Amino acid sequence: MARYAALVHTVKAIYPGTFDPLTNGHLDLIARGAKIVDELVVAILRNADKGVPLFTVPERLEMIAEAIAGAGFKNVTVTTFDGLLVEFARAQGAKAVLRGIRAISDYEYEFQMAMMNRKLDPELETLFMMPAEKYTYVSSRLIKGVFKLGGDVSALVPPLVMERLKAKGYRRVVSGQW
Ligand code: PNS
Repeated sequence: MARYAALVHTVKAIYPGTFDPLTNGHLDLIARGAKIVDELVVAILRNADKGVPLFTVPERLEMIAEAIAGAGFKNVTVTTFDGLLVEFARAQGAKAVLRGIRAISDYEYEFQMAMMNRKLDPELETLFMMPAEKYTYVSSRLIKGVFKLGGDVSALVPPLVMERLKAKGYRRVVSGQW
């Protein structure tokens, strides 16, 4: 058995992002990625250059861990990283980075990132996957914005994220009054 283990070709991929918070679109992509790679590591960037996050990194880590366990993914784990993604991927022994493309508008940014990562590490491949059509307009930024204004986002995030959004104590706007 051990003699053959070295011949087995396994693919480990990193699914990086800020995940503030995790959406059903992210979960859909995790499910798709987990079907085609052997090991998928969801990696939360600790020092994202995106202003003040709504959820702390430990909160995001906890939510993703719960969602992964709830969905029963056996080959998916979650962790955090800092610095260059290529260095994290190398340290993890990952061969690929998984990213979602929802619409053409995502493409330019994703293409630039993929090419820069290839420049930094030609051995690391970027895999693009498309989430289900029903999530093509879903983003963490929109979820936060809509929820803050009293909109119902419960169909777009896992229930455990919905609970945390409510617990954040966002004030809901009712009839234009605060
Ligand atoms: O969910 P996001 O915010 O679109 O994810 C962006 C992320 C975390 C994938 C990207 O910002 C990243 O990889 N940052 C790490 C720093 C890095 O490696 N930069 C060079 C790649 S262009």
